[in-house]
Amino acid sequence: MKNNSVDWNMVWTEMMQANQKADHQERGDCAKLWDSRENAERFWKRSQKNKGRIEKTLKELPLKKGSRVLDIGSGPGSLAIPLSEKVAHVTAVEPGKGMMELLQENISKYGINNIGCVNKRWEDLNVEDDLEGPYDIVIASFSLGMPDIRNAIEKMQSASSGHVCLYWFAGETPWEAHSYNLWPAMYGMEYSPGPKCDVLYNLLYSMGIFPDMHVFPLEFTNDFGSMDEAIDYFRSRYTIETEQQEIMLRNYLEETLEQQDGLFVDHGHSTRVKIWWEKEVID
Ligand SMILES: C[S@@+](CC[C@H](N)C(=O)[O-])C[C@H]1O[C@@H](n2cnc3c(N)ncnc32)[C@H](O)[C@@H]1O
Repeated sequence: MKNNSVDWNMVWTEMMQANQKADHQERGDCAKLWDSRENAERFWKRSQKNKGRIEKTLKELPLKKGSRVLDIGSGPGSLAIPLSEKVAHVTAVEPGKGMMELLQENISKYGINNIGCVNKRWEDLNVEDDLEGPYDIVIASFSLGMPDIRNAIEKMQSASSGHVCLYWFAGETPWEAHSYNLWPAMYGMEYSPGPKCDVLYNLLYSMGIFPDMHVFPLEFTNDFGSMDEAIDYFRSRYTIETEQQEIMLRNYLEETLEQQDGLFVDHGHSTRVKIWWEKEVID
């Protein structure tokens, strides 16, 4: 089979749809998880605790004092807030209601005046009308919940006058490992994972983009004050409909979470990738 006979955009779409179906999400609503204020706060707390990832990300970007940066799927501002101190302007695109509320509170709390916010999904916004481009750097960090990824990347290219930088996953994520373990007994089916960097790389290649790629490990930890708090969190991610499913979840978490200093900790090892390229400037 020739490599160019595979429609990698279709592979991405189908994997994303199968994953959303397995996760009992509606189609195209990856951002829904982040409508929840509680999930947004948990994410912010975790990113503040693991500042190493944020510092590494910023250090690796070609930032200049005058740079304009577009942060797609900014979340609560884990990157946008520290970025705003180093560049002239940041536009943060974030569809999740809880994430956007927290981002705006963070902007006020830190007295920032160079971040513009757009409360939309990337696929729903209009580059000309909704953004203040062009941007020297377009970044989408763990935010590619976009079923038509080819279209999303073409849009990123049109908003950028310089670099495009994507962060994504290689291999199984720690939360997918839980789903693999739980799905057969809990829902009577195998779990379908989301698309990873192999699909993304092949898609970019088929679009004539030959990006740089850097693979790195990232330890993942999620702390809970009690077993009930952990169960509430996992319940918001899974669809628990029967008492039997709830018991299975509780038994699984009791076996899996580690108790440390009075906390219940979900430890995971993950492999992440940075994929980036400079937009070709055509004279
Ligand atoms: C895991 S958080 C990452 C936040 C931040 N970029 C970081 O690296 O810390 C993923 C964010 O992507 C957003 N997101 C998911 N799908 C999106 C889409 N289609 N368009 C824009 N943002 C999206 C979610 O709402 C969520 O806030």
